[in-house]
Amino acid sequence: MTRRLYLETYGCQMNVADSELMLGRLKGAGYRLVDRADEADVILLNTCAIREHAEQRVYGRLGELSRHKLRRPGVVLGVAGCMAQHLRGKLLERVPQVDLVVGPDGYRNLPELIEAACEEPTLAVRLSRVETYEDLIPARADGVRAWVSIMRGCDKFCSFCIVPFVRGRERSLPIGEVIRQVEHAAAEGFREVVFLGQTVNAYRDGDVDFAELLERADRVEGIARIRFTSPHPSDMTDRAIEAIASCRKVPPQVHLPLQSGSDAVLERMRRTYTMEEYEVLVEKLRRAVPGIALSTDLIVGFPGETEEDFSATLRAVERIGYESAFIFKYSPRPGARSAEWPETVPDREKTRRITILIDRQKAISLRKNQADVGSTVEVLAEGPTKRSDMEWFGKSMHFKTVVFPHREERVGDLVSVRVAAATPHALLGEGVRSAAFAALEDVHA
Ligand code: SAH
Ligand code: SF4
Ligand code: F3S
Repeated sequence: MTRRLYLETYGCQMNVADSELMLGRLKGAGYRLVDRADEADVILLNTCAIREHAEQRVYGRLGELSRHKLRRPGVVLGVAGCMAQHLRGKLLERVPQVDLVVGPDGYRNLPELIEAACEEPTLAVRLSRVETYEDLIPARADGVRAWVSIMRGCDKFCSFCIVPFVRGRERSLPIGEVIRQVEHAAAEGFREVVFLGQTVNAYRDGDVDFAELLERADRVEGIARIRFTSPHPSDMTDRAIEAIASCRKVPPQVHLPLQSGSDAVLERMRRTYTMEEYEVLVEKLRRAVPGIALSTDLIVGFPGETEEDFSATLRAVERIGYESAFIFKYSPRPGARSAEWPETVPDREKTRRITILIDRQKAISLRKNQADVGSTVEVLAEGPTKRSDMEWFGKSMHFKTVVFPHREERVGDLVSVRVAAATPHALLGEGVRSAAFAALEDVHA
């Protein structure tokens, strides 16, 4: 009998890719995906632990989903991913309706774990030094973009971060498997691959480094674009920069997390670079790849962050001129080093700082996008916007969202779009009706 699976994914792209691995594994064991929890025999949440808020959301959701077990006691409720690894047995204590807790290195045995969880609460939270799931075939969702995890874990231990504790030591997939996955994605009709890893440019398999991986992937037929996220500034070698510049399919775009513009804060964060080193790297990238689009991650309210440190972040954002940024309030994570340090920035002050920084970045993004007005950009068509079938969206080479009037294009086509207007979040093609201005925010939501 086929079992019905309901799967919800939280957190970063690595979790999205892991969910596709889990689904591939479970489909092979006779499961079928359903899109409603009340139709499922197995309910699985793939969770995130990066900030406290991420865990609160999952607790809330588990409360709601638990009611399915009241009506149908045979339902298996499972928690996978980083929060499962972080809380382990505590999760079973706190939410007794949970039957299965499985960490990021336990997915290979998922069918057996679910069987066990039918009998008694089951815990699978051993981290592995070697597991890369290299031989598992992910069941990818339709679309133009295929996620390919090329490495797992992280050895950086930034003082604020839970990832090294919940995803274990850094390990890379064999290069042959990575290329095979790119070829497989191309054969399935995907037009773009995104290489994933917490420090993706630390990739290494014997003599093969990240630069060579890009060069080999660049030669795979059928793929139009090759992206990667997130590289760590300290792992960005000259060879990698050359490869980004020379590989035809690697677009001029890099996400380069900065975290803070203050050297004192960067040091306490254990980010392993100074502001000056970071800016030298930005210069090198700009010289090698003219017009490169940069985006970043920033944290406000780290322990000890003074008004002057925060101003340094504002100045850095102005100087560097990112196309976009993800900005977060610091959240202490039990287990990570900085959680032992007293919080010095109260929440209302974090709110003040994040509001100022978001507004500043919004103005910069708008300025950058307005500079594209009048130019023609190449867009990888993804499909209709939420508001209108007549207006489609896709990403430019610089990874900007572009809305354009739909004519004959099919999903996955590369379309030339003349930019007529811009918002902080997107570019609007010529002929897009003004109503679409609002629709842009939908694309992003
Ligand atoms: N490996 C990536 C980051 C992964 S987590 C890198 O090193 O760049 C994504 C982002 O979440 C981080 O870049 C950071 O900005 C944010 N983040 C991580 N831990 C956090 C915490 N404890 N509080 C607030 N933001 C955090
Ligand atoms: Fe976390 Fe730092 Fe590793 Fe990124 S590099 S995952 S921020 S420890
Ligand atoms: Fe969250 Fe785990 Fe990703 S903690 S951000 S889902 S690696």
